[in-house]
Amino acid sequence: MTMNRREFTAACFMCLTGAATIPMLSGCQSTYYTSGTIHPNGISILKSEFTYVKKDKVLERAYVIVRNDAMEFPIYVYRFSDDDYAAVLMKCTHQGNELQASGDHMHCPAHGSEFNNRGIVAQGPAEENLRTFKVTSENDNIFIDLRA
Ligand code: FES
Repeated sequence: MTMNRREFTAACFMCLTGAATIPMLSGCQSTYYTSGTIHPNGISILKSEFTYVKKDKVLERAYVIVRNDAMEFPIYVYRFSDDDYAAVLMKCTHQGNELQASGDHMHCPAHGSEFNNRGIVAQGPAEENLRTFKVTSENDNIFIDLRA
């Protein structure tokens, strides 16, 4: 199946606005949303949410996005290794717009700021890095501590 530019853009828009825990269309394969499990001090997600099966092969996602009604902004969780994750609030430090994830970086559709997968400013006008959260890895889960 071929897709023209307009159809691809529409498909990606659907990916970005999809409901929680729905794997995305093939054009946006790496974007995956989960609501996670809410705890008194944070949110946990399964490490298995960073993997998916395609044609009998187990493949890895570089990141997942945690989005649920308890949070005003989603959290971008990037996997560097089985024990090294970054959790970054997707709220632009310029004027508070919600960011969009694209692979190993996030960008702001309002005025063009860009941030890397640890929330560090890569391009302004934003001058401050994004808010990050401590992440701990335990067995099959990772825990995002929202207290700090
Ligand atoms: S609000 Fe993000 S760049 Fe202005």
